[in-house]
Amino acid sequence: MSEMINSLNLLCAADFSIPAKALADRYGFVFGGERDNLLQEVDPLVLWLDESGLSVRQTGPKAMGPVQVDFATGSARHRRLYGGGKSQSIAKAVGLKDKIRPVVADLTAGLGGDAFALASLGATLIVVERQPVVAALLEDGLARARLAAGDDPDLASIMARINLVHRDAKQWLLELGNDELPDVIYLDPMFPERRKSAQVNKSMQVFHKLVGADADADELLPLALQKARFRVVVKRPSHAPWLDNREPGYALEGKSVRFDIYPLRSMVGRLTSEV
Ligand SMILES: C[S@@+](CC[C@H](N)C(=O)[O-])C[C@H]1O[C@@H](n2cnc3c(N)ncnc32)[C@H](O)[C@@H]1O
Repeated sequence: MSEMINSLNLLCAADFSIPAKALADRYGFVFGGERDNLLQEVDPLVLWLDESGLSVRQTGPKAMGPVQVDFATGSARHRRLYGGGKSQSIAKAVGLKDKIRPVVADLTAGLGGDAFALASLGATLIVVERQPVVAALLEDGLARARLAAGDDPDLASIMARINLVHRDAKQWLLELGNDELPDVIYLDPMFPERRKSAQVNKSMQVFHKLVGADADADELLPLALQKARFRVVVKRPSHAPWLDNREPGYALEGKSVRFDIYPLRSMVGRLTSEV
C-alpha cells in the first residue's frame, strides 16, 4: 500500500526566495533556493514557485506539465459557466437547491475541484486537506483565484465562500464545537485505481504518488455521521464498495462515479443559511 509523500524540495525562480522560504517554513518543506531551470535536478518531483504560482514539477527530459490548481480559467471556469448547474449529480447529492444553500465541509479536499463546483452553485465550503503538498497547492490556487476575481464579482463571491483548513479531518471533526457543525459533510477519499496506469493521465499519477492510498478512509464515515447536521455524502467510483461497508440511504449515479447519501434529517425549514 503506498504511503503519502509528506514533503518535497521547494525551488523557485529568481526573485521568489522570500515567498518561497515563507511557504517552506509554514508547510515544513525544505527550501532549496533559486534556479534558472529544472533540467539538472536530481529529485524526480519538486515544488516550484514562480510568477505563475506554485506547482509540482517532474524533473528530467520527459517531464510532464506542471500540476497546479487553477479555478479562474480552463476547465474550472468552463464547468462554472456551462457545467449544468444544480442539475448535476453532485448538487443533488449535497441537497443544493435555489433556496437551500448548505454549509458543506469537504473533508477530503484534494485539489479542490468538487469544493469549487459546490461553491459555484451557492454552497459555503470548509475544505480540509491533510497532505502538505496538496494543501499548499490548494492554498496557492485559492489565492490566485481571489486575485483574478478582481474584475469578476461572481468569482469573487464564490471565492469568499471557500475556507481552507490544513488538518487531518478526523482531528478537525473531533474538535468541532456543537455550534460549529456543518450542514453537510462530503467525503471523496482515494480509491485504488483499477485502470492500467497508461490510461491515467500523468498529473493524476503524480497526485496518487503524493497522497498514497488513504488507507484510514473508513474511519471518517462514522465520525462524519456524528457531526453532520443533515447528511453525509460519499463520492465513490461506480464499481467501488460502500465506504466502511455501510449501506447508504440512497445513491445517485454520476458519469463514472456514484454519490452515496446518508441522510440524517431534512434540511427544509431548518437550514440557517436558507434564503
Ligand atoms: C480523491 S482526493 C479528493 C479529490 C477532490 N474531491 C477533488 O475534487 O479534487 C482525496 C484527498 O483527500 C485527502 N484526505 C484523505 N483523508 C483525509 C483526512 N483524514 N483528512 C484530510 N484530508 C484527507 C487526501 O490527502 C487527498 O488529497
